Amino acid sequence: MYTVILQAIGLATAAWIAYLSQPGSSLFSWHPTLMSFAFLVAMPNGIFALSRNHPLYASAKLSSKVTIHLLSQLVAVSSALIALATIITNKDNNKADHFTTRHGLIGLITCIAMVGATSGGVLANNAQLVKAFIKPAAMKSIHAFAAGCAVYPLAMTTIVLATYSNFLVSALPIAYMRYTIAGVATIMAVAVYVQVSQRGARKTVRAD
Ligand code: HEM
Repeated sequence: MYTVILQAIGLATAAWIAYLSQPGSSLFSWHPTLMSFAFLVAMPNGIFALSRNHPLYASAKLSSKVTIHLLSQLVAVSSALIALATIITNKDNNKADHFTTRHGLIGLITCIAMVGATSGGVLANNAQLVKAFIKPAAMKSIHAFAAGCAVYPLAMTTIVLATYSNFLVSALPIAYMRYTIAGVATIMAVAVYVQVSQRGARKTVRAD
């Protein structure tokens, strides 16, 4: 049940950020809107779909859960890459330097790591292609660890850093409200970390 509550909190926060950004009002507006949709809505749906006790997916076959995971991650990665392209183009249009803030730099690292973890997911899903080099189970564990314990916490750190941006501080009616967004990002990062590490622990117990 807690997965549904977390997803609802992620959805509400992404909707709040979209409301503050007014998507369509400028090229920039798509950056926060699509990034928060990617990392607070689509990606958690893909990750929690694999959870054992998700009320919506509990009775689904593993193959269906994997399909939901794949489609959700495809949507998340596409949205994040479009959001990255919009901020880079927007900065180019304004003749501004790139990756000069902590948010921009960690955000770039997040996007590169996301592409790496996604490639690992594609290999994990087609493990027979690489089984001469790496065992399928190891490939899956590496993908899960890279995505859940590296990419997702990095993405949430980037969102926390975004709460210090002039844009968000001036868009919020009370600047301290940014701590709500930062708090949600922290809770989501911890929840995803716990889910991924529990799956890893279950697999280790089964292997014993
Ligand atoms: C995990 C999600 C996010 C990622 C990966 C990300 C990534 C980035 C990157 C790479 C840049 C630098 C682009 C450049 O310098 O050319 C940037 C800039 C920016 N982002 Fe994000 N972003 C995310 C979420 C957000 C959110 C939610 C907001 C606002 C609510 C936001 C606001 C900004 C602003 C104001 C800039 C321009 C100033 C700066 O470079 O720091 N971003 N973002």
